[in-house]
Amino acid sequence: MNKINIDTLLSNYQSGFSLEQPFYTAEEILNVEWKSIWRSHWIYAGNVAQIPKSGDYFIYKIQQDEIILIRGNNGQVHAHYNTCTHRGSAICLEQKGRAAKLVCPYHQWVFDKDGTLLNARMMPDDFCKGEYNLRPVAVETTEGLIFISLSKDPPDFSPIRESLGPFVKPYLVAESKVACIKNYTLRANWKLVAENFRECYHCGGAHPEYCNAVIGANLREDTTALTAEKNKTWEEKGLATKLIEVTPGTTSYAVRYPLRPGVESYSTDGKKVSIPMGAHPDHDAGVVGLVNYPNFWMDSVSDYIWTMRITPINVSTTDVEFCWLVDGKAEEGKDYQLEHLTAFWEITGDQDGQLCENNFKGIESNAYKPGPYGPVEDQVINFVDWCVTQLQSK
Ligand code: FES
Ligand SMILES: [Fe+2]
Repeated sequence: MNKINIDTLLSNYQSGFSLEQPFYTAEEILNVEWKSIWRSHWIYAGNVAQIPKSGDYFIYKIQQDEIILIRGNNGQVHAHYNTCTHRGSAICLEQKGRAAKLVCPYHQWVFDKDGTLLNARMMPDDFCKGEYNLRPVAVETTEGLIFISLSKDPPDFSPIRESLGPFVKPYLVAESKVACIKNYTLRANWKLVAENFRECYHCGGAHPEYCNAVIGANLREDTTALTAEKNKTWEEKGLATKLIEVTPGTTSYAVRYPLRPGVESYSTDGKKVSIPMGAHPDHDAGVVGLVNYPNFWMDSVSDYIWTMRITPINVSTTDVEFCWLVDGKAEEGKDYQLEHLTAFWEITGDQDGQLCENNFKGIESNAYKPGPYGPVEDQVINFVDWCVTQLQSK
């Protein structure tokens, strides 16, 4: 590929049109994104139900860094770089597990869950252990959702907490249970996955199951009256309904919208898939749709949470992780059938994955040119504008 001039590309950007090809295909652009997006903002890592007990951990890989997310002795979540302070070996070699202590496999230095170096065998008496704790990563949680920041000076987390928190709270994520986690590798630039999940222009043509469940998803049904009526009921139940949009300087989007009347859940048959989750008294909470730029999506109904975490692997490959959470008391086989629970988002996710890969394939063509977004793609414009703004601040 010819050498690209990022400044020229950025100054040529026209809001309302899709991005020029190199934004989706050039490693140089991804390199700027690693810095100005992935290492500057709060990044969704996972949820506390993935690590319910002290010592439970999972690894989240961003670019060349593996981050250990581990539950401490008092329930708090710690985040450390997975690199030993002795000679740098990776410490956790499994993607998830449980460890009373973190023991480096190379020379067995022993670290506590909070990263404190406890034991460095055969080192001299004057060796100062306090200088060799694990290198920490900034970590915050809101209502059980775990975010990390690789920035030296992380942005204020409170706008995320205030935007997403009220919508997530009734699910009682800390007491919930992971029913299933699946990872998919898509041959598409990460921004195409994000863009796809910021519009429903494609839903009528691509998602029959989704359109059966969500009234208005085909963009042909007027939902104004139903939404107003439902908002009233939801507010009486104390459920958050206030739309939150991503505005300059913020990263969160939140909305609650109705399912089609008679539909109880996001399911292939319209029926509920599990018992109401957390504090939800019934199956009538509609859909909670949350986004946090750059990598967090949550689409949830009364009986389960579905989250999506997207992470670039390289400019043309993206890891997509789906996680399904159910009420902590729900028993598989009795209160929910795993296949019934996951079918809706597996089908819809496969459809979306295909669309993203098709989109990427076409963008790789020499004949690709930016095309115009329509009015129903306003949230895609919002996302792409946000990305360009971050790149300009590089
Ligand atoms: S590299 Fe970890 S103990 Fe030596
Ligand atoms: Fe979709």
